[in-house]
Amino acid sequence: MLPKIILYEDLPTDLYAHLEQRSDLSLLDSFASVPRSDLHSMLSSAVGLIGVGEKVDQEMLDQAPGLKVISTVSVGYDYFDVADLTRRGIMLMHTPNVLTDTTADMIFMLILCAARRAIEVNEMVRQGKWLETIGLDWYGSDVHGKKLGILGMGRIGYAVAKRAYGGFNMEILYYGRSVNEQAESEFKAQRLSLDQLLAESDFVCVTLPLSGKTRKLIGRRELALMKPGAFLINGGRGPIIDEAALIEALQKGVIRGAGLDVYEQEPLPLDSPLLSIANVVTLPHIGSATMETRYAMARCAVDNLLAALESQSLVNCVNPEALQHVSTK
Ligand code: DGY
Repeated sequence: MLPKIILYEDLPTDLYAHLEQRSDLSLLDSFASVPRSDLHSMLSSAVGLIGVGEKVDQEMLDQAPGLKVISTVSVGYDYFDVADLTRRGIMLMHTPNVLTDTTADMIFMLILCAARRAIEVNEMVRQGKWLETIGLDWYGSDVHGKKLGILGMGRIGYAVAKRAYGGFNMEILYYGRSVNEQAESEFKAQRLSLDQLLAESDFVCVTLPLSGKTRKLIGRRELALMKPGAFLINGGRGPIIDEAALIEALQKGVIRGAGLDVYEQEPLPLDSPLLSIANVVTLPHIGSATMETRYAMARCAVDNLLAALESQSLVNCVNPEALQHVSTK
């Protein structure tokens, strides 16, 4: 009998066909798109879930006694309670690696756009206000040769450092749980305390995952430690920065500007003060959003799901310990 799988995200046609051949597949637009009772009856026989951007809550998990694998089409898994999934013997799979370079490219775009005021000057030209050679009012800041402080020297942090060091001759500082020997030897990266990094960097770049330890890591105190000419770049998760404190810091000129791809609330509410501060670049969470990378992520998530179900593969598994609880299911 084919395994029952619930898909809650559109997949490219060929990947959908592949999954459909290997499973008894149900496709949902979203969990809310079907009555709760129908969802519960689907869950009662499901062994796999695959999708992204939706919370799989406790009530849903309680209705899914045979659920073995959840495969998220994302590298981030902060909207799952991993400890609870482990206790329930449910393996959580994610998609690291395939999006590293695309996300690092986007972070570098944020650095460049914020420093060179690309969005602001583009708007000025489109509004017909480019009437003479631009002067001091529109000058930006150099990126090359400056100090880049990276919060989190994991896969994405490393890829940002590689671009910064190799392409822009930047000095690399980092803050992280562990030493990254490769970054230290290849880019002369220096590991600092958070406070030292904030005080020394011209660009502070967040690439950390969201957890209890990183939530609101950057608040009013931390922003006050930054140089007045520095920029804060966030390509990690919105809640790592206290957004109210950031807005205040930008309005008061505590820092020069910000480049953001992620926010405390997404989509960013239309009344967010961030939208009316000139020196802020606001992207709509596009870190991995290219045709090639989103395809690669979907393929990775499908492969992860099938491999975990068919051979209990642990490749890209967030909580391998879940397997120890499987026998009790
Ligand atoms: C991820 O994969 O976690 C990115 O933020 C896209 O959702």
